[in-house]
Amino acid sequence: MLRPPYQAYDRLYVYHLDRADIPAFADPDLIGIWIEDDTAVLFFHRAKDQLVAELCARHGCTLVYQADLDYGDWEAGQFITSFTAGGITVSPVWEKGQADIRLDPSVIFGSGFHPTTRVCLETVLSYLQSPEAAIRTMLDLGTGTGLLSIAAARFGAEKITAIDNNPLACAVARANCRLNKVAERVDVREMDLRRSKPATSGYNLVVANLYRGLLEQLMRTPSFWEGELYILSGFMQSMEAELLAELPTEKIRFLDRKRSDKWCIWVLGNRKATG
Ligand SMILES: C[S@@+](CC[C@H](N)C(=O)[O-])C[C@H]1O[C@@H](n2cnc3c(N)ncnc32)[C@H](O)[C@@H]1O
Repeated sequence: MLRPPYQAYDRLYVYHLDRADIPAFADPDLIGIWIEDDTAVLFFHRAKDQLVAELCARHGCTLVYQADLDYGDWEAGQFITSFTAGGITVSPVWEKGQADIRLDPSVIFGSGFHPTTRVCLETVLSYLQSPEAAIRTMLDLGTGTGLLSIAAARFGAEKITAIDNNPLACAVARANCRLNKVAERVDVREMDLRRSKPATSGYNLVVANLYRGLLEQLMRTPSFWEGELYILSGFMQSMEAELLAELPTEKIRFLDRKRSDKWCIWVLGNRKATG
């Protein structure tokens, strides 16, 4: 995340270590530590070879990969700037001017520039604006930067649970919720959806922009289908047939299917709730 004196991201210095449980340390140039399975990826604004060598010596771990790259390259070559989607404006924190949502995307998925985020955002907003859908509660599985949850909280939802297994994503999402003054309505929880399945009952809307394998796991879990409306994304057209086979059609029906680039977005409804 950005901390003074940094006001934007320029170059990223990335160190990949073979150990996940690196004790917390303070460094003025640290952007964050991304934990994934048994590894830790350290992101800095400046080169930190000496510091990382000391950390490895102290904690008995090895530097397995190091790279430095432009922030835009980390964001798949995308220049992160203000955009409008579903009638609202989202701005990165380093841009001045009016915006409905301000976001520090840090190095986390969900800047708004990936086709799946963009279409999920538009779809969430369209259901929030629909009086028939009456969205008051939302479960956001794989929240990333928290953008979808913040949009829901800013535009009508009263209670949102946002889940991610990446501690850095949770920290970024919480900071973005505070920045947009919705922290009291968004409960950000660190949880690995491969191991625990959150209850979906009581949620008007369940959003899951994840990846095929994890979506399949969730879709095979009967308790996943206790919500009312579902927005699922993170898979391509070539994967649709296999996912479709996991759909409990006696309980869930198709409401809409969207595509952006090679990505698909499904909107599904619980037959009990959506008639
Ligand atoms: C494709 S991103 C979506 C981010 C955001 N919701 C959006 O639409 O832009 C998927 C998110 O799911 C999280 N994720 C991946 N595997 C997960 C797991 N096993 N449990 C919980 N979250 C997971 C990732 O850390 C990432 O933030």
